Amino acid sequence: MAAPCTYPLLLLSLSFTFFIFTSAATESDALLIFKSSINDPKNSLSSWTNTSGVHHCNWTGITCVAVPSLYVSSINLQGLNLSGDISSSICEMPYLSHLNLADNFFNQSIPLHLSQCSSLENLNLSNNLIWGPIPDQLSQFDALLFLDLSKNRIEGKIPESFGSLVNLQILNLGSNLLSGSVPSVFGNFSELVVLDLSENAFLVSEIPADIGKLEKLEQLFLQGSGFYGEIPESFSGLQNLTTLDLSQNNLTGSFPQTLGSSLNNLVSLDISQNKLSGSFPSGTCDGKSLINLSLHTNFFNGSIPDSISRCLNLEKFQVRDNGFSGVFPNGLWSLPKLKLLRAENNRFSGELPDSISMAAQLEQVQIDNNNFTGKIPQGLGSVKSLYRFSASLNGFYGELPPNFCDSPAMSIFNLSHNSLSGQIPELIKCRKLVSLSLAANNLSGEIPPSLAELPVLTYLDLSENKLSGSIPQGLQNLKLALFNVSFNQLSGTVPLSLISGLPASFLQGNPGLCGPGLPNPCPDDHPKHHASGLTTLVCALISVAFAIGTMSVAAGFFVFRRYSRRKSEIGKWHSIFFYPLRITENDLMMGMDEKSAIESGGPFGRVNFLSLPSGEKIAIKNMVNFGRQSSKALKAEVKTLAKIRHKNIVKVLGFCHSDECIFLIYEFLQKGSLGDMICRPDFQLPWSVRLRIAIGVAQGLAYLHRDYTPHLLHRNLKSRNILLDTDFEPKLTDFALDRILGEAAFNSTMASECAHSCYNAPEYGYSKKATEQMDVYSFGVVLLELVAGRQAEEAESPDSLNIVKWVRRKINITNGALQVLDPKISNSFQQEMLVALEIAQRCTAVMPEKRPPMLEVVRALQSLSLRSCLPNLELSTSEEHSLPV
Ligand SMILES: *[C@@H]1O[C@H](CO)[C@@H](O)[C@H](O)[C@H]1NC(C)=O
Ligand SMILES: *[C@@H]1O[C@H](CO)[C@@H](O)[C@H](O)[C@H]1NC(C)=O
Ligand SMILES: *[C@@H]1O[C@H](CO)[C@@H](O)[C@H](O)[C@H]1NC(C)=O
Ligand SMILES: *[C@@H]1O[C@H](CO)[C@@H](O)[C@H](O)[C@H]1NC(C)=O
Ligand SMILES: *[C@@H]1O[C@H](CO)[C@@H](O)[C@H](O)[C@H]1NC(C)=O
Ligand SMILES: *[C@@H]1O[C@H](CO)[C@@H](O)[C@H](O)[C@H]1NC(C)=O
Ligand SMILES: *[C@@H]1O[C@H](CO)[C@@H](O)[C@H](O)[C@H]1NC(C)=O
Ligand SMILES: *[C@@H]1O[C@H](CO)[C@@H](O)[C@H](O)[C@H]1NC(C)=O
Ligand SMILES: *[C@@H]1O[C@H](CO)[C@@H](O)[C@H](O)[C@H]1NC(C)=O
Repeated sequence: MAAPCTYPLLLLSLSFTFFIFTSAATESDALLIFKSSINDPKNSLSSWTNTSGVHHCNWTGITCVAVPSLYVSSINLQGLNLSGDISSSICEMPYLSHLNLADNFFNQSIPLHLSQCSSLENLNLSNNLIWGPIPDQLSQFDALLFLDLSKNRIEGKIPESFGSLVNLQILNLGSNLLSGSVPSVFGNFSELVVLDLSENAFLVSEIPADIGKLEKLEQLFLQGSGFYGEIPESFSGLQNLTTLDLSQNNLTGSFPQTLGSSLNNLVSLDISQNKLSGSFPSGTCDGKSLINLSLHTNFFNGSIPDSISRCLNLEKFQVRDNGFSGVFPNGLWSLPKLKLLRAENNRFSGELPDSISMAAQLEQVQIDNNNFTGKIPQGLGSVKSLYRFSASLNGFYGELPPNFCDSPAMSIFNLSHNSLSGQIPELIKCRKLVSLSLAANNLSGEIPPSLAELPVLTYLDLSENKLSGSIPQGLQNLKLALFNVSFNQLSGTVPLSLISGLPASFLQGNPGLCGPGLPNPCPDDHPKHHASGLTTLVCALISVAFAIGTMSVAAGFFVFRRYSRRKSEIGKWHSIFFYPLRITENDLMMGMDEKSAIESGGPFGRVNFLSLPSGEKIAIKNMVNFGRQSSKALKAEVKTLAKIRHKNIVKVLGFCHSDECIFLIYEFLQKGSLGDMICRPDFQLPWSVRLRIAIGVAQGLAYLHRDYTPHLLHRNLKSRNILLDTDFEPKLTDFALDRILGEAAFNSTMASECAHSCYNAPEYGYSKKATEQMDVYSFGVVLLELVAGRQAEEAESPDSLNIVKWVRRKINITNGALQVLDPKISNSFQQEMLVALEIAQRCTAVMPEKRPPMLEVVRALQSLSLRSCLPNLELSTSEEHSLPV
């Protein structure tokens, strides 16, 4: 801190000992008095003490001058969490010129008594809690050169008396609560270099025209402050202005014609987000004459004439979100120092000149939503620093130049909604391209395979063009988050990972595309010799399913008759009960007809609930018998399922079959399915219960996979197939139906009814063999539902994202994981939920081999529940109120 004064101190310490001592005595006292009224929570001023023997010039924040003896010249206590009162005792220090108390918590009105500090030139109280109006007596600070009161809570009007601070070089009143109209007090501030009245939302004022008299003004910040009216013509007098920010006001009118040619030193112009209109002065920043001159004349040795030096320093030009029209100033495009150009959301017309190649520093261009036309010039590709070019919603036409994306920095390129035609050139050089949008043009030809070589490409939108051919397989290698090729004329097989992997894929409107989840399955998806048989089967299935679906609610009578007829064909029914149910097949049939008993459907047939004479309830699943298995084989299979004894697996109580139907009889569970519960708008299970459900489901699956012989796969796990008993203990149902229906019938039912289900692992439909990993995937989806408190797929809106894609999208953004967590659950479970989310993500990994086995999942979830110290997984009392009744 004291470094700047060390050298003079060393020189002086011997020869002026006496004087040092005398001046120190008074100044250190003054500092100690100053300290005594300050709260210093971080003890930053511990060195400020008269007992330590440290000279006060060496105290924290103190700088001294030798004049010739040592005097305090500067106190810098910025950002030390100080509060309390700013005492005027420091004004006893005759050479104090700098007082910086910025970034503290001083909570008082403007300390007028500091005007007694006769040498004070620089007062910085920025970012404190200073409140109240600016008093008229502020004029007493007439010695001040720098006054920074920004980022406080100063309110009221700017007083007329302000005008007497004629020596000010920097005046910063930004980010306060000033209100009303700004008086014309600036005419006398002839020394002013920086004026900041920005971010005073309550100001309602025209811009004082006398600001235009401030010849030395270099920086003018008036943004975000409720200024209305026109930009004063007088601003043309601001010859030394480098930064002009008038953005986010209510300014109207046009850009003053005189201004364009007078602000020669301008580095940054921002007049965005106003209501300005009209056209820019023709010739604004026009550099053409410079080129002509340097090429065609040889008297280029004197001073550069004004007309040519225009805007040569300009680095930022921002006029977005206004109503500007007319031809965009052409000269801007080739300015040598221009870095940023934002003019989006206006009605500018004009073309992009090839001379844009001369804008060698250009980094960012945003001119979306204007009326630009013409071709994209070759010159654009030679700007090596360009990382963002966004010109959507214009009238650009013609072909993209082959080098359009050659800038090695290019990261975002958007020319969507124009009239570009021709082919998309191969993109090779823009290795940093993250986002490419060429949507809604007339582009034709194929998607260039070289896109797959761009290592960080994440967003690709080529929708609404006339692209044809197939989707390059190589795109599978990219980590895309968005892949939109909808409404083109693409054909062929969609690469698998583009359908089921990370990206949000939009493929609709390409009748020629085929693949899982698309209207057209690919011809070679299924082995040839099965194809015809399968098709008939699928048709049969669809019609049966349709019939069951439409009849189930409305036509109890109809059903009754069907069953009655069947009953008459007695002897065709076979039944086995593994429990003493004390009912006859006849009771069963009659019970099936009770309208009230009909609960819900499913791909394999509906489920009825039936009250037994004993008062017990049972659930009966009614499936079509495809006759794929002999009666004997069927019995053996059902027995296999019925022998399973696990607390997380629904008991099979018996079955009953004819040539046409199979009734599987299950135990009845009070609370219905997890899926039904989740889709209720008032779904509120506490986290401990959700975790217990997850563990139970995982245990049930692990049991099927590894502990039971024969090893079984569930093959249709989803939250609707997880039933809950009165204690919310989960039990799997509808498991291993492949064993009952036969593999082929099971597969074709799944394919026709559940092809789009997001519970299906991505490899489903491709791999011939069902695997444990597919069950693990489905479990991961259920776990996501529990963590997010959200249905896997909204039945109503088929277009809405399923939960897997939704989560993947969220996770991709910063803090996205937190957004996935069900907001209905208290933050205190956040850590656990994040771990569960991580487990769910591993289970839903696109690559099957990356998914953990169920046993590992069980262990991970159990350790999570132990960590939360819920004894026996009881509900924690604090959560009980949120239990559904
Ligand atoms: C200082 O203030 C910051 C911001 O309010 C706060 O986070 C920090 O805890 C404070 N430090 C002390 C020691 O008071
Ligand atoms: C140190 O300061 C305290 C109070 O600020 C005062 O009472 C004491 O006399 C001072 N000691 C010296 C040596 O100046
Ligand atoms: C301040 O500290 C420096 C280094 O610690 C020392 O050299 C110098 O003499 C001190 N100044 C005074 C006035 O005590
Ligand atoms: C500032 O001080 C006033 C009165 O002492 C108090 O009411 C107010 O809460 C304080 N403001 C802040 C932000 O601490
Ligand atoms: C006041 O202090 C703040 C915070 O350090 C700084 O940003 C600002 O530039 C200072 N103002 C002046 C006029 O020096
Ligand atoms: C400008 O200064 C002159 C003389 O110093 C004074 O008479 C006049 O009122 C001041 N103008 C403003 C707007 O304060
Ligand atoms: C404008 O700035 C230049 C260079 O910084 C300086 O020489 C000149 O005096 C300034 N003009 C005015 C009117 O202050
Ligand atoms: C602009 O003016 C309108 C009314 O004229 C007002 O509602 C709005 O808040 C103003 N906007 C700003 C940024 O001051
Ligand atoms: C866009 O430009 C065309 C001519 O280039 C003109 O006819 C049309 O009116 C312009 N549209 C707007 C909104 O300015």
